[in-house]
Amino acid sequence: MKRSKRIEKLDARPVNKDGFIREWPEMGFIAMKSPYDPKPSVKVENGKITELDGKKREDFDFMDQFIADYAIRVDRAEASMAVPSLDIAKMIVDIHVPRKQILEVVSGITPAKMCEVINYLNVVEMMMGMQKMRARKVPGNQAHITNLKDDPVQIAADAAEGALRGFAEEETTTGIARYAPFNAIALLIGSQVGRKGVLTQCAVEEATELELGIRGLTTYAETLSVYGTEKVFIDGDDTPYSKAFLNAAYASRGLKVRFTSGSGSEVLMGSSEQKSMLYLECRCLYVTKGAGSQGIQNGSVSCIGVTASVPAGIREVIGENLVAALLGLECASSNDQSFSNSDMRRTARTMLQFMPGTDFIFSGYAAEPNYDNMFAGSNFDAEDFDDYNVLQRDMQVDGGLRPVTEEEVIRVRREAGKAVQAVFKYLGLTEVTDEQVEAVTYAHGSKDTLKRDVASDLMAADDLMKRGITGVDVVRALAESGFTDLAESILEMLKQRVVGDYMHTAAILDEHFQVLSGVNTPNDYLGPGTGYRVDGKRWEEIKEIPHLIDPNNF
Ligand code: 5AD
Ligand code: CA
Repeated sequence: MKRSKRIEKLDARPVNKDGFIREWPEMGFIAMKSPYDPKPSVKVENGKITELDGKKREDFDFMDQFIADYAIRVDRAEASMAVPSLDIAKMIVDIHVPRKQILEVVSGITPAKMCEVINYLNVVEMMMGMQKMRARKVPGNQAHITNLKDDPVQIAADAAEGALRGFAEEETTTGIARYAPFNAIALLIGSQVGRKGVLTQCAVEEATELELGIRGLTTYAETLSVYGTEKVFIDGDDTPYSKAFLNAAYASRGLKVRFTSGSGSEVLMGSSEQKSMLYLECRCLYVTKGAGSQGIQNGSVSCIGVTASVPAGIREVIGENLVAALLGLECASSNDQSFSNSDMRRTARTMLQFMPGTDFIFSGYAAEPNYDNMFAGSNFDAEDFDDYNVLQRDMQVDGGLRPVTEEEVIRVRREAGKAVQAVFKYLGLTEVTDEQVEAVTYAHGSKDTLKRDVASDLMAADDLMKRGITGVDVVRALAESGFTDLAESILEMLKQRVVGDYMHTAAILDEHFQVLSGVNTPNDYLGPGTGYRVDGKRWEEIKEIPHLIDPNNF
């Protein structure tokens, strides 16, 4: 066929490199409404739910049972289920109905009913819902801090810069699993150099992650994954009960815990039971709530390629974020794994969470270049910082970040590198040379840094674990190496675990280690003139992007 030059041009556009599929409910490729989704129903007998979404208790799988027993308020169930779904959808958008009232109604509805409610909302209504239902008054942001070499000096420097740029939480993972303790320590140190009170986690295999947490080398855990069907849960060697137990293990040692779920996982794992992605994600969120987790990282997350491939997939993503908020959970709303070759599409997708604000707009903004992202690449990277800052300024929206100066970036990167150097020396770990610190200070990513001795690093990391090194040892090492202020910050992070207030819903810490959460600073949005507004000091900060024309120069 003779090709149209116009169509050829369009075919070559980045968006046409993305994957798109027709709806296929039998295999789970359906965003919000499968013909096989159950109809909402509930029956309560003797204080127990005996029927859930068309299923009798004797036919429950372990998820139905867990949800019926722990995630729905039995005393509210019949009254809430009697409210038409359209009425609940209208309440969510109505500025005269406060968040608390909606939480109360929703606490008694079933997953299928929740799905029905969400299906009544278009994306703007979902954003309005999120603006009101988000738990914390002030939105936040979370960063990925990783690199191809697992270089602890770069982790510390990138963490310091990320914290300076405004991230309230920072997470790392490893290229080589045995590097985990180094990465955790470097992240803990670097984050506090950039901004006191930033929370950190190291996402690795469950036993190691728990151990690092118990030792005080991390302050939260996030990747406690849950799935929407029994089969997928079992394939992951888990049950809702085992996740609840793990949650309690972290919480007992004063760590903040957030679960992870997201549409598309059941499709990828080949067991979606013909249900829509939204319905299955509702089940995940009910399990999360029932297990006692304060929050969730969701919005498809690492399965976004699947969800984004179907019609209304991106609408489904903000939909599932909203369900989390409706259940009273903290929501770290993804914008995490990259899913599109199109800059327009990846930005448009982010606006759905950016504009209303969520507890964490990104649950993994890559604060390093894409090639250093060991979580498999993010929707936004270090190269996008200025675009993001300009978007905040253009729309007067708080996306959780702020512009910084080159001087500040260089200063905190160097200080973080020097602190890691001192701690490694004091604890007898591998050597960090002055040249390494210098290279990392000015580096964009690991292509600009020096080689590390991997074999020695891994031996030292193993040894560190064997010696029982804890957060207190890091504090001592810093204090005795002249980093008094930094030592105090990390000691303060350890104290938080004893206080426990930062385990409340949607909690973050400010630079004075004061908790800002859905409990002590709840979202009080009720229409124009209420709720969080970008003004005062914060607005001045957002305005100060680089490369401004200064009227004083004329
Ligand atoms: N469902 C469940 N867990 C997920 N994770 C990412 N996406 C999902 C999802 N859709 C978790 C996994 C992964 C980590 C980065 O986050 O545990 O390893
Ligand atoms: Ca994350």
